[in-house]
This record gives sequence, structure tokens and C-alpha cells, in this order.
Amino acid sequence: MKVLAISGSLRADSHNSKLLRAAVDLFPADVEVEIWDGLKDVPPYDEDDDGADAPAAVARLRAAIAGADALLFATPEYNHSIPGALKNAIDWASRPAGSGVFLNKPVAVVGASSGAFGAVWAQAELRKVLGATGARVVDADLALGHAPERFDADGGLRDENLRMELQEVLDTLLLVTRAREAIAA
Ligand SMILES: Cc1cc2nc3c(=O)[nH]c(=O)nc-3n(C[C@H](O)[C@H](O)[C@H](O)COP(=O)(O)O)c2cc1C
Repeated sequence: MKVLAISGSLRADSHNSKLLRAAVDLFPADVEVEIWDGLKDVPPYDEDDDGADAPAAVARLRAAIAGADALLFATPEYNHSIPGALKNAIDWASRPAGSGVFLNKPVAVVGASSGAFGAVWAQAELRKVLGATGARVVDADLALGHAPERFDADGGLRDENLRMELQEVLDTLLLVTRAREAIAA
């Protein structure tokens, strides 16, 4: 099984990207996890540029999503919503409507913010947007607040409870993904 992990932050020291790296270690050994690093390359959505000759960065994004059995997003909160770059990438990947690469793809959403609430509004927005694309958003969440205090120098999660919460999110994502694959087989 392959999971594509997408951070909504472009920052080198991003807490959301750290959260995804912490998740990599919590997946079982038979799950391959790729952390997607192409967000900054995706141009602004323009319907005139879409179609068979979509920009190369978009083609790479669509191929990465299509090749994954499940997706894991970690989003920051920007002004109570998701970062524009993330929304833009999702808009590209959502097309063609009705047959895009998100259709029926199991997806989990987590989020980290420097404030107390752990990007809960952004996560709600992201779940709504992903639902609109036809993705199957799993019922699990992790809101990591006070993010600068939550990681040790190696990027590991300091708090065992948070690690367990993250593990539960990943377990739910894998359970849903495997159940869907069993039904499809
Ligand atoms: C433009 C901008 C808007 C922000 N708005 C919010 C917000 O609405 N709520 C919040 O909790 N944090 C907000 N923050 C703080 C982010 O949660 C914080 O910078 C976080 O660490 C970003 O995630 P990252 O570490 O993965 O880059 C904002 C930050 C920026 C740069």
C-alpha cells in the first residue's frame, strides 16, 4: 500500500511537514509513504492551461495522487482557512470534474498551528474542499496546537498522547483504505 503525504506549508521548518515526517515512522512496515514536495512548483490554476497538456508540475501532482492508495494531509491555518497554495493544488488535482484523481480516494486530515487550537478551522475547510472533489475523508482528526513546543530537536513528537492520537488517525486511514480495497477486489 502507498500513502501520499501532503503538507500545506512551504516553510522549511514547517510544523505540519514535521507532523508528516513523524507519521512516517508510525505506519506499518508494509506501507510506503511518500512526502510530496512539489507544492511550490504548482502554478496558479487557469482553466485555459488545463487539459491534456496541463503544466508539468500539475501532471506530477495528479500522477502522485493517482498512484497512491490513500492520502494524508497536514495543513496550517492561514486566516482561519487553508493556505492558498494548498487550495490551488487541490483545485488542479480536482479536475476533470467527476473523474479526477481524488475520486473515492481515502483521505485523512491533520493540522498544526502555533496557536492553541491546532488549525481546527483550516482542517474543517480542508475536509469540506476534499469532500467536494469526491475524496472519501475519514472520520479522524488531530489538532496540534502550540506547535513550536511539540517537537524535539530531531523532529519527533514530545508528547506520547499526541503520538497515540496521530497513530489512531493513521490506523483509521489504513482501515478504511483496506476495507475499500477488499470490497473492490
Ligand atoms: C498568513 C498567516 C495567517 C495565519 N493565520 C492563522 C490563523 O488563522 N489561525 C492560527 O491558528 N494560526 C495562524 N497563523 C499561524 C500559523 O498557524 C503558524 O505560522 C504555523 O506554524 C504555520 O504552519 P507551519 O509551521 O506548518 O508552516 C497564520 C500564519 C500566517 C503566515
